[in-house]
Amino acid sequence: MISCGIIGYGFLGRILAKRLADYRGRGLELRMLANSKGYLLLDGDVPPGDITPLPRFRASSPLEPVERGLVDLLVVLTPTNVRTGEPGLTYIREALGRGVDVVTADKGPLVVAFRELTSLAESMGVSFCYEATVGGGIPIFSLARHSLMGDRIISIRGILNGTTNYILTRMHFEGLPLDLALQEAQMMGLAERDPSLDLEGIDSACKIVILANALLGVDKRLGDVKVRGINQVTSDAILAAKELGMTIKLVGSIEGDRLSVAPRLVRLNHPLCVHGTLNAIEFKLDIMGDLTLIGRGAGESTVSALLSDIEWILNRRAYLRGGR
Ligand code: HSE
Repeated sequence: MISCGIIGYGFLGRILAKRLADYRGRGLELRMLANSKGYLLLDGDVPPGDITPLPRFRASSPLEPVERGLVDLLVVLTPTNVRTGEPGLTYIREALGRGVDVVTADKGPLVVAFRELTSLAESMGVSFCYEATVGGGIPIFSLARHSLMGDRIISIRGILNGTTNYILTRMHFEGLPLDLALQEAQMMGLAERDPSLDLEGIDSACKIVILANALLGVDKRLGDVKVRGINQVTSDAILAAKELGMTIKLVGSIEGDRLSVAPRLVRLNHPLCVHGTLNAIEFKLDIMGDLTLIGRGAGESTVSALLSDIEWILNRRAYLRGGR
C-alpha cells in the first residue's frame, strides 16, 4: 500500500482528500494531512473542514511523518511565495531527498529552484510532478511530453491567469471598472491572496518561467521575464480595441530566448481569445503548426491535474515492481 500525505489542507487539499478516499482499493492510502503548524495521522477517515482544532492534530513540523518514513507520496499544496519558494520549497526538497515521490500545485518552488528539484528527483529515482502549477486542469506538460514528443516546440503563448482574464472580459463586455471586476474575481476565489500578483502579471510570469524550464530545457528565473500587468489598461483602451474587432488580453509568451508578459491586442476570433476565467495556451510546433488548448485554469479543475499526476506515479510504481 502506498502511503500518501497532503501538506496544505485548504480548498484544493480538501477536495483531493475526499477523492483519494476512493483509491484505497487501488493501493493508495491517505495517511497524513498537514498544514504549516502541524499534522494529523489518519486511519482511514478524511476529516471535514479545518484540521487544526481536531484533538488528534499534532502541533509539530509537517515534515515529521516524512522524516519517520510514514509517507511514500507527498502532495504539497501550501500557499506559495514566488520570491522565496517557501514553505513549499523546503517540504519538496526534504521529501525528494528522502526518496519520497512529490506532486505539487505550488508555483513558488518551481520558479525559484526548478533545476535543483528536478535534478534531485532524478538522482533519487523518484517522481516530481507539477501538472497543476500551470493552467489548472489543462494537461499541458503531459501532453507536451507524450503526444508532442516527435515534434519541436518553436514558441508558446498563453492566457495563463484566470483573474486578469475575468477582469478584462468584464471590462470588454459589460464596461465594468477594473476594481469592481477584481472584487468579483476575489469572491470567486480565483485571485491570489495578494491580488497584485495577478494584476501586475507576476502570476503569469511564474507560469511562463515554469513552462520555459520544463518544456524548452532552459534555466530561467522570474527576473528573466519582461513583465507588464493590466493595471494601466483603461476602459477607453478596451473600447478602442473593440471597435477594431479586437480586445486586450494579458498574454505570456516564450519566443526564442525572450520571455514576456504584457497586455496585447488579440482578435476576437483568434483561438487564444478565450473569455471569463478560462485559460488558453498556444504551441507553435515545427511539423504540426499551431495547437491551442483551452480550459479552466484555476479552482476545482486543478484537482484533475493533481489526480492525473498521482495516477502517473501509481502506474510508474507498478511498472517498477514489474506488475503492469
Ligand atoms: N490566481 C491564479 C489565476 C490562480 O487567477 O489564474 C491559478 O494559478
